[in-house]
Amino acid sequence: MKIVMVGSGYVGLVSGACFADFGHEVVCVDKQESKIAALKRGEIPIFEPGLTELVRSNAAAGRLSFTTDLAGPVSAADAVFIAVGTPSRRGDGFADLSYVYAASREIAQALGRYTVIVTKSTVPVGTGDEVERIVRELRPDAEFAVVSNPEFLREGAAIEDFKRPDRIVIGTEDARARQVMADVYRPLYLNSAPILNTSRRTAELTKYAANAFLATKITFINEMADLCEQVGANVQDVARGMGLDNRIGGKFLHAGPGYGGSCFPKDTLALIKTAQDYGTPARIVETVAAVNEQRKRAMGRKVVAACGGSVRGKTVAVLGLTFKPNTDDMRDSPSLSIITALQDAGATIRAFDPEGMEQAKAVLPGAVTYCGNAYECVEDADAAVIVTEWNIFRALDLDRVRTLMRSPVLIDLRNIYRGEQVREKGFVYADIGRGISDPVSSHAIDAA
Ligand SMILES: NC(=O)c1ccc[n+]([C@@H]2O[C@H](COP(=O)([O-])OP(=O)(O)OC[C@H]3O[C@@H](n4cnc5c(N)ncnc54)[C@H](O)[C@@H]3O)[C@@H](O)[C@H]2O)c1
Repeated sequence: MKIVMVGSGYVGLVSGACFADFGHEVVCVDKQESKIAALKRGEIPIFEPGLTELVRSNAAAGRLSFTTDLAGPVSAADAVFIAVGTPSRRGDGFADLSYVYAASREIAQALGRYTVIVTKSTVPVGTGDEVERIVRELRPDAEFAVVSNPEFLREGAAIEDFKRPDRIVIGTEDARARQVMADVYRPLYLNSAPILNTSRRTAELTKYAANAFLATKITFINEMADLCEQVGANVQDVARGMGLDNRIGGKFLHAGPGYGGSCFPKDTLALIKTAQDYGTPARIVETVAAVNEQRKRAMGRKVVAACGGSVRGKTVAVLGLTFKPNTDDMRDSPSLSIITALQDAGATIRAFDPEGMEQAKAVLPGAVTYCGNAYECVEDADAAVIVTEWNIFRALDLDRVRTLMRSPVLIDLRNIYRGEQVREKGFVYADIGRGISDPVSSHAIDAA
């Protein structure tokens, strides 16, 4: 099949490379000339494990190519995927659909034979209707269908997720389009990946419902962690005790500094707006978004508390900047709020991230000293904060860290160390909700 991917970012590039690997002929289009030029040279503009090899091998086999010219490939395509960004709109938090609609207009003008236009971008309910209206208005003569096929891949495990998805959701009422989508995903049909055929609106909403639910799960365990700290309980054990119940499941029950990233924050906000517009407010999701927003800055206060109540004039080493490991994506990372809160409180920031520093430099306000590795980062620091659980932070030489630091204070916002082990090494150690960092609370419980 001939497939065009409009937008060659995290989703477009991974999807395009995987479709090419399935044997399809794929053209990835992007507006950014520098991105396309880099891809043509075999340079991958994002960090995603396995992507460089996948792109290079499929490009070498002639199945994957890159261009800034949308019209040529679209005119010959069986399916055109829209994988452009849908960030939060400034001001009201609704999804900014201007990129999707601009792409739709360009696609409309280039349509040749019968083409299935597929929205892979995460878009609010009814966007498919609007895309269809736009294309129909510009090209009343064209034969096309608009399908919703939301993407569920996770950055850091994107290729695996795309090739072995938990499910594929295909939203269309058009039988001919459904057949094209079946051909596009044929290798996954053969692997018996669950395919969910739904209406277009149902598919659009399914993506938001899934992300909002995951955000809720994270926020729920984060609140339990706060309670654990007050009552002297251990949130990791609570999560395990909950998660072993098959109705709940253990995933997304890791307490931490609050969710971030390119999807959950903007998708929860967009769902909230949609639900309000339709007169059925999603109050749980509204609360989740509000609680999460406050939590990120509260993590800054946690660091201040671990430093004895003030960080003015102190140096804080931040280990990990990206919103999760194995990505370079800094969009809405909790580190942004935490660092700003610490700077507001008078701290000087040193930082290290294995992959995210280039992107961090573009978005982090204020002066930050970027370091070459974790040990350089903690040098002369008054406190070190683990914000992202990159593997290399899991096995730090704590003796070396202690001797490098001005004062040995470690705040582990991902609970990757065992408290006793770190304290034995002479550190002041704070974590998230394991109930052992606040002896006062434990005494209160004992007394009670
Ligand atoms: N990143 C994820 O993990 C993830 C997962 C699932 C779904 N999604 C959704 O997928 C969509 C894309 O996300 P992303 O993270 O890949 O975004 P991204 O910002 O990495 O990539 C979007 C790309 O589209 C390009 N673009 C914009 N308008 C264009 C046009 N008219 N023609 C050609 N190119 C154009 C941009 O230059 C950019 O390179 C969003 O709706 C997002 O919510 C993302």
